[in-house]
Amino acid sequence: MTTNSTTGAAADAGQAVARSRVEQLRADLLRHNRLYHVLDAAEISDAEFDALFRELQELESAYPELLSPDSPTQTVGAAPGQTFAEVRHRLPMLSLANALNGGELLAWRQRAADLLDREEWTFVTEPKIDGLAIALVYERGQLVQAATRGDGRSGEDVTANVRAIDAVPNELRGSPPPIFEVRGEIYMPKTGFEAMNAAILAQNEEREAEGRTALTPYANPRNAAAGSVRQKDAAVTASRPLSIGVYQLGWVDDFAIPDTHWETLGWLAELGLPTTPEAAVHDGIDAALSACERWTERRDSQAFEMDGVVVKVDDLGLQADLGAVGREPRWAIAWKFPPQEVSTILEQILVKVGRTGSINPYARLRPVRVGGVQVTNATLHNLDDIRRKDVREGDTVVIRRAGDVIPQVVRPVLERRPGDAVEWEMPAVCPGTTCGERTCGNDHCGAADGQADTCSGVWCGGAVARQGDDADFYCERLDCPAVVQRAIEHFCGRSAMDIRGLGEQVITLLLRHRQIADVADLYAIPSKIEALARIDGLGHVKRRKSGDVYEVGDRLRNLAAAIERSKSRGLAHLLVGLGIRHIGGENASLLAGAFGSLDAVLLAPRDELAAVDGVGPIIAESIVDWAMNGDNWSVVHRLQAAGVEDEQERSDDDRVETPLEGMRFVITGRFEAMPRPQAESALKALGAAVGSSVSKNTTAVFAGEKAGSKRAKAESLSVPIWTEEQLIEALASPSVVTQWLAAASAVDVVDAVNAVEPDAST
Ligand code: IVH
Repeated sequence: MTTNSTTGAAADAGQAVARSRVEQLRADLLRHNRLYHVLDAAEISDAEFDALFRELQELESAYPELLSPDSPTQTVGAAPGQTFAEVRHRLPMLSLANALNGGELLAWRQRAADLLDREEWTFVTEPKIDGLAIALVYERGQLVQAATRGDGRSGEDVTANVRAIDAVPNELRGSPPPIFEVRGEIYMPKTGFEAMNAAILAQNEEREAEGRTALTPYANPRNAAAGSVRQKDAAVTASRPLSIGVYQLGWVDDFAIPDTHWETLGWLAELGLPTTPEAAVHDGIDAALSACERWTERRDSQAFEMDGVVVKVDDLGLQADLGAVGREPRWAIAWKFPPQEVSTILEQILVKVGRTGSINPYARLRPVRVGGVQVTNATLHNLDDIRRKDVREGDTVVIRRAGDVIPQVVRPVLERRPGDAVEWEMPAVCPGTTCGERTCGNDHCGAADGQADTCSGVWCGGAVARQGDDADFYCERLDCPAVVQRAIEHFCGRSAMDIRGLGEQVITLLLRHRQIADVADLYAIPSKIEALARIDGLGHVKRRKSGDVYEVGDRLRNLAAAIERSKSRGLAHLLVGLGIRHIGGENASLLAGAFGSLDAVLLAPRDELAAVDGVGPIIAESIVDWAMNGDNWSVVHRLQAAGVEDEQERSDDDRVETPLEGMRFVITGRFEAMPRPQAESALKALGAAVGSSVSKNTTAVFAGEKAGSKRAKAESLSVPIWTEEQLIEALASPSVVTQWLAAASAVDVVDAVNAVEPDAST
C-alpha cells in the first residue's frame, strides 16, 4: 500500500519484466539443483547458486503475486546453505510494556482512562506464550508469506518452513479478506519439547558411537520453536511438534472488520486460525487483574511455557484512540509473572572473560529445574555483589529466574553453610585461554572436559585489576586471548555477520590451531578447507586400517559457504560486528544510512557522528576512539580486501521509505477504512512522528468522524486539518503531502504577513 506508489501502467511493465526473470531464475535454479544434488555434477559454485536464489527470493517478495508453491524458494532442500530473505513489515511489530504487580496494571488503566476521558470498558486477557512471533499474510485464503518479527521493522521470510507446520493452516475457511495479515506466536508445547530433547540425547549416543559430534539439546521451548522455524530444510520444521496461537489482526485492505478484539479472535477462529488458547473477556480491570492472578497460580500447569498474561483493551476504536508510544502500544500491557525461586548447591564460582576484558564471575550450580527449565549456571555480576550477598562455594543458595533473564543467585541459606566455606577471591591473573605464551593447563581451558592437560592452547595470565570506580575487574592485557575470542564470536553472531557454524567451539579450535588471529582471517578459511579438514573436530574423519583419512565434510563446506555469504551482510551488520563499544543494531543502521560507507563512518568528525539523530556524543566518542587505533584499521583494510561489502545499498524501498521524515501528525476521531493504530504505524513507517496532542509544531491533523477538542485546537493554531480520504491518499502517495503543505503555507504566508511579528513570515 504505502510503497506501491507507481502508476498502473509502469507497475504492469515492471511486473512483466519481473515475471519473465522469475521464470528464468526458477528454471536455472531447478537445473542447478538437479546437477548438484542428483547428478553430482555442479556447474556453478554454491556462492553463484546462492546469488541466483537470493535474486529470486527478492523478486518474489517484491511481487508476492508471482509466488508459487513449486518455486525453488518454497520447496524442501532447494538451496544449499540458503539464508532467509528479508521481509519489511508493512506495520511494525511492536513489543509490550510490563506490569510487574497489580499497582502497575491499575496505573496503566488509569493512564488510558485519562487519555480516553472515560472510566469503564472491557478488557481481554490472553496467555503470553513464550515462542516466536510470526506475521502471516493470507491472500485469497492462501498462506503466501510468513515472516519472523526480526527487529520489528523487518524480519526473515520463513514461508516455506511455516507452510510445513501442520498447526498453521495453509488455506483458510469461510470468507477471509482478499489479503490481510495476522500475527501470532509459534510455540512448542512442553511435552513436545521434552520428547524432542530426549530424542536428541538418544541420537547423541549413536553419534558418539560413530565418532560424530554431538547435537546440543535446546535450552527451552522458546529456543526450540525459534530454532525449528529457522531451519534450512522445511522437512525438519515439519517434523517438530509446533503449535500456533494467533493473537492479533495485523493489516487488512478493503474489508470490514469486527469492532472489538474479542470478536476479532472469534472471527479469526472461524476462518480456521488457531487463536491463543484460553483468552477471556472481562468487564473491568478488577476482573482482568483477578484473571492475571489466577494465571500466576497455575502458570506451571499449562501445556505451554508462558511468561505472563497480555491484557488488552477490547474495543478497537479505543485501541486506535490510545495508539502507541515508541515501540509499545498504550492499549495492551504484559502482566509479568513474579520470578520463580528455588534452592540448590552452588558448586563452584567460575569466571568468564567478556568482550571488553571484564572478568565476570558466575555460579556453577547443581542442576535444578526452575519454571520448567533446567538451570546449571547463574550470574553473580561482580565481586561486590558476591561480598554483599556473602555467597561462597559449597553454599546452598536461593536462585531466581524471571522470564528470559539469566538466573541470578539471590542469597545463601546460611543455616546450611558447610563449616569450611571460605570467601571467594577474584583470580589474580586472567584465566582467558587459547592463544598467548603459555601452554594451557588451567581449569577454564577451552578444550572439552578432561582434555585440559593435553590442550595445545594457551592461556592469558595477564594481570587482573579494577579500573577506577568500576565494579568490574578487567584483564589488563590488550591482546588477551579471551577478548580476541569474544570479539570473533561477536563478529560471527546473528546480530552481526551471522556466520552459521562459527560458534564458540569452532572458533576455539581455529584459534588453538593458529588458523585465525582476528576477524579478518576468517575470510581466508574458504580457500584452505582442505588443510583445515586435518584438524580434529573440523574435518570428516574416515577410520581405515591403513590410518585415518581426513576429508572436507559438510561442516567445513557449509562453513565456507556461510563465510562467503556473510560478505554481503551489509554495512550496518558489519559495523555491529566490529565490536565498537555502544554500537548495536539500531544505531549501526542509522550510521550506515547517514554515511553510506564504512570509511565514511570511521573517518567522520566526532560532531558529525554525534549529530546523527539517535547516535549522540557517547557513541560518537566511542567510534572516534576505535578509529584512532591503527590495529583496527589493519583489520578494516583486510576485510575490505577480502571483499566484505562495506557500503550501504540503497534500495528503492529505502528511498521511498521515509518521505514524511520530520513531519508530525495527530490522528483524531473515528476512521472507517483503517483502524487508527494501523494508520499511525503506516505514517511512522514513512518517517513521520505521530503525537497525541496538537501544538504549533504539528504538521497537520487527520480528523475522522466525531473529532472533538483536537480538531478545535488545530483550528485555533491554524494547523492544517485533513480528512480520512487524504490520510489514505497520503499513505498511498506520500509525496502529495508536500503539495498540500505548500498549498496550506501559501495561505499561512498571507496570514503571517498580515500578522505583527515580522519573523513569522519566513
Ligand atoms: S500482543 C502490540 N498477545 O509478546 C504487541 N503478544 O512482548 C502485540 N506474545 O512480540 C503483541 N503472546 O511475540 C500479544 N497473546 C499475546 C502474546 C504476545 C505472546 C509475544 C509476541 C510479542 C511479544 C511482545
